[in-house]
Amino acid sequence: MAYSLTIYPIFDRMLSREDKESLLGQKGIMIWMTGLSGSGKSTIAIGVERELHKKGILCRILDGDNIRAGINSNLGFSEEDRRENIRRIAEIGKLFVDTGIVTIACFVSPTNELRQMARDIIGDKDFREVYIATPLDECERRDVKGLYARARRGEVKDFTGISAPFEAPTNPDLCLDTSQMTLKEEVEAVLDLIQ
Ligand code: ADX
Repeated sequence: MAYSLTIYPIFDRMLSREDKESLLGQKGIMIWMTGLSGSGKSTIAIGVERELHKKGILCRILDGDNIRAGINSNLGFSEEDRRENIRRIAEIGKLFVDTGIVTIACFVSPTNELRQMARDIIGDKDFREVYIATPLDECERRDVKGLYARARRGEVKDFTGISAPFEAPTNPDLCLDTSQMTLKEEVEAVLDLIQ
């Protein structure tokens, strides 16, 4: 614990995670989606969220573009900023998981070290890693945001897959290649992992 000796957390007087889980009738978990920009992380997360909602299960998506427009708007894409991005997201995600919420994080999180940091913060037993393994050429072909074209022209620096590295996870709980599966199949696979 790195907090200072003048900080006194009051966890012992707050209601517990179990109290919240029994109120909601569900258990908190973090589904951590990693993969290239445009690989389909957010699309799958939205599909999963809708299905969970129909079943009466409360879900929260944390998504790169949204978080970076708000709480992490002071961060860029250097190694150091990506680390701080993922650290904050993992800490926020842990609050949701501790509130009993099914939480889906959609972040490139390009290295094993970053994903391990997220796992360490959230806790191994609450963390499932889902690798959205859509190949780079397919992500680039889709180029939903036009960022690959800009990165190829040198207008976006340190772009993951083009001018910054992406390390595939070595042992993910689930691996989905959206160029080989339908969205429905992908959503089903994540729902199976959650249940
Ligand atoms: S992470 O590497 O720190 O995990 P994060 O998931 O938050 O990245 O943000 C990635 C999103 O930011 C991409 O989907 C893309 O839309 C946008 N983006 C802008 N610049 C970059 C860049 N240099 N590298 C990767 N993504 C970028």
